[in-house]
Parts: sequence; C-alpha cells; structure tokens
Amino acid sequence: MEENLKNKTLAIIKPGFLYDGFYIQKIIRDNGFKIVFESNVRLTKEEACKFYSEHQGQHYFDKLTDYMSSDDILVMMLEKDNAVEDFKDLLGATDPKKAAEGTIRRRYGIDIIRNVCHGSKNSKNAEKECKFFFGLEL
Ligand code: CMP
Repeated sequence: MEENLKNKTLAIIKPGFLYDGFYIQKIIRDNGFKIVFESNVRLTKEEACKFYSEHQGQHYFDKLTDYMSSDDILVMMLEKDNAVEDFKDLLGATDPKKAAEGTIRRRYGIDIIRNVCHGSKNSKNAEKECKFFFGLEL
C-alpha cells in the first residue's frame, strides 16, 4: 500500500450537526489534522445507498441512508500521519453511549445513527471514500 494513503481519511459531519461543525473542525485541527478539502453536500437517497453499500442488508441500512440523505452534510478529507486510526480514536466508538470521555461522539452524539461524524474505517475505504466525494486517486 502506498505510504501517503495511510495519511488520509474521509470525515463526514452528519445531518443536524452542521451548527456544531465549527467547533468540531477546531477539535479536528487541534488534534493535528489538516483539513485538505471540504465540501457541503446534500446526498440523494441513491447516493447515500451507494456510499454505504458495504452496509447493505444490515437492519439499519434503510434508516441510515434515509438519514444521510435528509439534510446537508459536511465532507472533509483529512491529512495526518496515521490519519485513519487517529481519527477513529478521536471520534470514539460508533455508539456515542459507548464512546470514551473526551471523544467527539461522546460529546455531540445522540444515538448510533446520529453519531455526529463518519470516519473511514481503514485505508482502503479512505481511498474509496475520497474518490467518491472528491474524485481523487490518492
Ligand atoms: P458511520 O461511521 O457513518 O459508518 C456506518 C454507520 O452505520 C455508522 O456510523 C452508524 O451510524 C451505523 N451503524 C453501524 N452499526 C450500527 C448498528 N448496529 N445499528 C445502527 N446503526 C449502525
């Protein structure tokens, strides 16, 4: 795997959290990430299904994709050494109730679907997801 691939991850501030976005971006920067690209996007249901296609068949798939296409999102490509893992740590567990103190999801999250922010789960997904939104080959 290319070395620079490990340094990028994709983050999405989810619907309903854009007012918190300013503070969340400050937390992200204060933790050493560079926001390389950002874009305000409104996904269609079809695009949300495509983005989360790995989750197709899961009981929450319809609810998740309805929600992700319900309002504007803020998509960011982040850069840092070990970006994927470090950003997952900063976000905390998928379920905000299980997220550690001091993490973004613990602080801002409502429930497992409205968990504030998406982060790529591995470098391969980071590559796919950056390409999805920014058309980039990393
Ligand atoms: P996200 O980082 O956006 O990636 C996939 C999303 O699926 C995840 O955050 C959650 O919002 C959602 N998700 C994952 N597991 C579950 C689950 N067990 N129940 C409901 N939603 C889930």
